Amino acid sequence: MQKASRAWKKKGLQVALVPTMGALHEGHLALIRRAKTLADRVVVSAYVNPTQFNSKADLRKYPQSPRHDAALAGRAGADVLFRPGNLYAQDASTWVEETDCSRGRCGDRRPGHFRGVATVVTKLFNLVQPDVAVFGHKDRQQCEVIERIVRDLFLPVRIVCHPVVRERDGLPQSTRNRRLSPAQRGVAGQWSRILAKAARMGKGRADAAYRQGVKRMPGLRSEYAETSGGHLHVAARIGSVRLIDHRPLGRRR
Ligand code: PAF
Repeated sequence: MQKASRAWKKKGLQVALVPTMGALHEGHLALIRRAKTLADRVVVSAYVNPTQFNSKADLRKYPQSPRHDAALAGRAGADVLFRPGNLYAQDASTWVEETDCSRGRCGDRRPGHFRGVATVVTKLFNLVQPDVAVFGHKDRQQCEVIERIVRDLFLPVRIVCHPVVRERDGLPQSTRNRRLSPAQRGVAGQWSRILAKAARMGKGRADAAYRQGVKRMPGLRSEYAETSGGHLHVAARIGSVRLIDHRPLGRRR
């Protein structure tokens, strides 16, 4: 991968990276199309990173669809689907840890998660050597963490965070949506509408409205609701599936 990237750069071509864990969906395809507008060559990495999972069961259940990914990525404009086998030596002992943006929200509920993300994204940057990397803004805290690492470590890559791609009922596109039963998918859509409505109420009222809205929802366990940076951020579990989302406070959508 490094060799290919160096060869492109020698020819003066710009390289974009879209890091994913595979099981591509419409949200990823939007990132690939965006990357295509930013660089001459687009690399999509598909690597299920074990160090960012909090439970072995969640890691095991993570869907994989390599053939489908290759077809979709190609159609969306990717030049390479990069699927590394394993990015950790057995005695790997080097980590990248961001200690400010990764606090609160998902960082508090998923200990070690952002350390795993920061480490693997740094490895991917070193392997692909992109000029620009495109991430989904659904994982807003992840974007904040990565932007901070790039700034603090002087990594020569521009970070672009692409707006959340939503289903028709407002639920963000996510690989995890596939694990919802039809009934759970209905609950997820309702959850999404409650969030959108609560956020429109603006600062000071949004989190209470959200909490009230989700209190009696069958099969849903709210994990957090926090306002920061002009957004209401939420996480909830429906059965064993963990969903996250955020909406701007007080704005009509
Ligand atoms: O957002 C994701 O899919 C992952 O966290 C990432 C950035 C590919 C790192 O494994």
